[in-house]
Amino acid sequence: MTELLGGLTCVVTGGAQGIGLATAKVLWSHGANVVVGDIHKEQPDELKQFPERFLYAACDVTNISSVESLFDRAVNEFGKVDIMVNNAGITRDATMAKMTEEQFDQVINVNLKGVWVGTKVAASYMKESGGGRIVNMSSISGKTGFFGQTNYSAAKAGVVGLTKAAAKEVARYGIRVNAVQPGLIQTPMTEVLSEEIIKEKVREIPLGRPGTAEEVANAVLFFASDLSSYVTGTVLEVTGGRYM
Ligand SMILES: NC(=O)c1ccc[n+]([C@@H]2O[C@H](COP(=O)([O-])OP(=O)(O)OC[C@H]3O[C@@H](n4cnc5c(N)ncnc54)[C@H](O)[C@@H]3O)[C@@H](O)[C@H]2O)c1
Repeated sequence: MTELLGGLTCVVTGGAQGIGLATAKVLWSHGANVVVGDIHKEQPDELKQFPERFLYAACDVTNISSVESLFDRAVNEFGKVDIMVNNAGITRDATMAKMTEEQFDQVINVNLKGVWVGTKVAASYMKESGGGRIVNMSSISGKTGFFGQTNYSAAKAGVVGLTKAAAKEVARYGIRVNAVQPGLIQTPMTEVLSEEIIKEKVREIPLGRPGTAEEVANAVLFFASDLSSYVTGTVLEVTGGRYM
């Protein structure tokens, strides 16, 4: 396999499982040094498979000093950071009538503020270091709006606006900012859905199946590498054609 990221260092938030873990693996397999930041204090067992070029640091993306210290750890270990993947996310689904203010705030905090914090910290560092690539995790829920997800759809649509605004602000420093919008992807986040709901969703997917975390990670790889050197402020849907 060709190495697209040899010598580069990437930080992936929410990389302990699911799409973040698959992204860490794919970027690592393309030669990158990988730093995973996740909310767990101790390094999760899933992350003990990287033999080298890997660092785990506990990090809460809603807290700017926590993300700054994740960056400091990455720079101390590998000398610099070239790629930031703002992937951490949560769901707290409920109809608007039943959703609590706390559930709304939690989702906006992690999924929207967390991406803003990660983009701000990464851009400030990359401005001084000569450039970089930032990839933000949105969701098709932000494009179409999902029943029971007024909090999540709002946050994920917000990630698109944030990505475009940030791309305009930092292009002059050689920093590109793009977003990925996954559809239904098999991860611990979607494991909780019943078979019946999955079947109903799959009927809406032209490719006729859920996606894998690795298929999303490959889209992140595109934005993280020079393959996308003339691409910024865009949103790539990885949905099997759902809601095209
Ligand atoms: N799975 C899907 O179908 C799907 C679809 C569209 C978008 N997404 C988005 O992709 C991203 C990854 O989703 P996933 O399915 O892998 O979810 P997941 O629940 O499997 O993994 C999310 C990770 O984020 C971490 N995390 C949560 N809060 C955090 C915080 N405050 N700080 C740091 N880390 C935190 C969790 O510990 C976990 O490791 C999320 O942003 C999600 O919204 C997922």
